[in-house]
Amino acid sequence: MPQITTGNPTSISLSLKNDDYTVLVGADLLKDTPSLIEAHTGIRSKAVAVVTDSTVGPLYAETLLTSLKGAGYEPVLITVPAGEASKSMEQVTEICREMLRAGLDRKSFLIALGGGVIGDLAGFAAAIFQRGIPCVQIPTTIVSQVDSSVGGKTGVNTPEGKNLIGAFHQPQLVIADVETLSTLPDREFNEGFAEIIKHAGIRDESLLTLVEQRDTIKENLIELVSRNVVIKAAVVEEDERETSGTRALLNFGHTIGHGIESAGGYGRFLHGEAISLGLVAAIRLSVAKSTLSEAEGERLIQSLKTYELPTVLESDLEEEAILNAMQRDKKFEAGQIRFVLLDKLGNAFVSSDVTTDEIKAAIRDLRG
Ligand code: NAD
Ligand code: GLY
Repeated sequence: MPQITTGNPTSISLSLKNDDYTVLVGADLLKDTPSLIEAHTGIRSKAVAVVTDSTVGPLYAETLLTSLKGAGYEPVLITVPAGEASKSMEQVTEICREMLRAGLDRKSFLIALGGGVIGDLAGFAAAIFQRGIPCVQIPTTIVSQVDSSVGGKTGVNTPEGKNLIGAFHQPQLVIADVETLSTLPDREFNEGFAEIIKHAGIRDESLLTLVEQRDTIKENLIELVSRNVVIKAAVVEEDERETSGTRALLNFGHTIGHGIESAGGYGRFLHGEAISLGLVAAIRLSVAKSTLSEAEGERLIQSLKTYELPTVLESDLEEEAILNAMQRDKKFEAGQIRFVLLDKLGNAFVSSDVTTDEIKAAIRDLRG
């Protein structure tokens, strides 16, 4: 189990086969990045690429760069356009080439400063640059703080589907500064709750009680992020490479959700919005095919609505386009779908018992 020490920052330590690392969750941590790197990693190089996006850079890069330079680091700032469309092989190549042009080598390291797009993209660049350099994740969205910065999945999208090219590359340290969440627009703040509600659904019913307190949630961000990191870290510790089935439970809502995100063309829905729709479909299938009660299912769907996440699919998105995108998804194995269902609130399992026709019906049901 991950080790937790509460405080500012709260520290959650993961112990994996070849990587031990710490996730720090607290307020106002960004300016302390150099001392946190020194205290929590073996990184001693001063040459570092800071990869960010065009929204996060203007907000937070200066604080980070000033602190790094003040501690003797030589940071090279690389900025990509904000948005899911940047999660591409072309951008990975560009990042690596910029690092080469700046003279970075295999002794250097990389800091990913941004949301899940930057974490996945820059993490992948770190995985392949000079056959792999250390990466520090500084997540700045709810999605990235509660989910994507932890666990080492990195990668990019292609027109054929989401996250189909990538690598496992665990970070050496994750610094989740909840102060950075204060600049998130409402839509981006809310989208993160899809992954949080997923975590509650698959692992921790009591987390839903915290989530339901919408009016005070911004006062409880350290607790919220830490509890989610503990859930994610525990799953990753149990099944780092998604071989035993445990980590696959994190795909709850993602089979149909990724299909919707991909069919929408990476730009129409934020990731969490597409996952919200996928969760509604998976919740309804759990009620129909397993023992999740209607009341439990409704409680989860109500939480999605509380955070203004979509629960009804707009009619112009073709069912066939969603299914085609889904069939290219990694969760299809030899044409057979491994679909994650809940048997009760807080407990999930992988089922091979959900048919394509049932999935089609679930997508139709999403139209309300
Ligand atoms: P994102 O990185 O695109 O961020 C959403 C938007 O918010 C962007 O426009 C970004 O510029 C902006 N932003 C980020 N931080 C900000 C801040 N502090 N203030 C103001 N604006 C800010 O998207 P996301 O929702 O963070 O992440 C979604 C991505 O994460 C998807 O690509 C998804 O596939 C991936 N993901 C990966 C994993 C994993 O395990 N690797 C898990 C979940 C999601
Ligand atoms: N977000 C799914 C996983 O990390 O496995």
